[in-house]
Amino acid sequence: MQVLLVLTAAASFAGAVALPLLYPLPSAAHIHLALAVGVMPLIFGAMIHFVPVLTRSAIASLGVRLIPLLLLIAGVLAFFSFAASSQSYYLAAFIALVAAATFATWITRRAVGSIGKPHSCLYWYLGAIACLILALAAVSAMALWPEQRLALKRLHLHLNTLGFIGLTAIATLQVLLPTAVGRPDPQAGARLHLDLKWALGGTLLISLGAAWFRPLAYLGTLLWMIPLVSLGNTWLTLYFREIRQLNGAASSLSAALAGFVAALLFGSLHANGILSTTDTAHAFILAFLFPLVTGATSQLLPIWARPGMQTAWHAQARQRLGAGGGYRAMLFFAGGIMLGLGWRGGLALSIAALAAFLLQLASLLAVAHE
Ligand code: HEM
Repeated sequence: MQVLLVLTAAASFAGAVALPLLYPLPSAAHIHLALAVGVMPLIFGAMIHFVPVLTRSAIASLGVRLIPLLLLIAGVLAFFSFAASSQSYYLAAFIALVAAATFATWITRRAVGSIGKPHSCLYWYLGAIACLILALAAVSAMALWPEQRLALKRLHLHLNTLGFIGLTAIATLQVLLPTAVGRPDPQAGARLHLDLKWALGGTLLISLGAAWFRPLAYLGTLLWMIPLVSLGNTWLTLYFREIRQLNGAASSLSAALAGFVAALLFGSLHANGILSTTDTAHAFILAFLFPLVTGATSQLLPIWARPGMQTAWHAQARQRLGAGGGYRAMLFFAGGIMLGLGWRGGLALSIAALAAFLLQLASLLAVAHE
């Protein structure tokens, strides 16, 4: 299932980059192709992998493992509704809302039944899903309060990008980078426990501020910076050598952290009218999401392709996907920052890095059966 979700995400990213060059679609169409069709189901797929690890419990049942498919259907429906200018996004929001609420119930049950105290990352996942649920509720509210549509759209997009994706990403990175490097971060659990309030509070303030009262958004950005700066410092102390390496997942994963910080700062400049909405969204997708997804995929895809005992094949597959990870991370980051500052040429850097990764993915799949 997770392999299918990675491939769908890769195809949806490529489609989101290529489609606007071929057809003049509304921006909401290609944004949802990348985020609702590609990222949303993939995040749930990744959580299905991590929740049993974090709660030391059995793998998820078939019913739970099918939830990402339901979200994929909702994402595809949302994409087509924007591409065809229909209103079926209300149905899409309802389907995704039911799926997300069912999933949150599953995580809560696992947390309660956990052997020992569950890892704090689990509460970040619950926070992330709560943000998605609120974001989808904001879409439903558009039908009730059409005069508040613009404010609700802003609420929806910030809850989704900084809350749903941001909380999941920043929590998962703190588990994934030490695993990729092969050396633990002893403070990760305690830090996640202390920092959730800042990240969640920051997300809510930014979302409400963007929708109704801008000063709240600046305060929210400051709150979000507390966990980000603390994580950045820890990583530079513990993993600087690995982060500088040009091969492997560490450089991509740390570029994702830098990309998230950049996207937050770009958001503040956008709130001041200095940067455009589209440029800020591009910086979020290219400088943060692309290094995140490619770095996490390099680390996780081998386990998802062949679950069970780790063999030499897994190490080779990771090496193959991680090859040139540092170069890709630099291209994604630089491309995202340039595009964020309004320089369109930056897109070429990101397209080059994405094409390189898709080729690496295809070459791994070609030998996956060996
Ligand atoms: C099935 C799930 C979803 C539905 C039904 C949905 C629905 C909507 C709707 C109705 C709008 C307003 C469009 C407009 O007025 O132009 C919107 C905007 C937006 N949504 Fe979603 N959404 C979904 C999932 C997501 C996810 C998962 C993300 C990000 C992680 C996301 C990010 C955005 C963004 C960035 C915008 C602003 C687009 C623009 O300004 O053109 N959405 N969404």
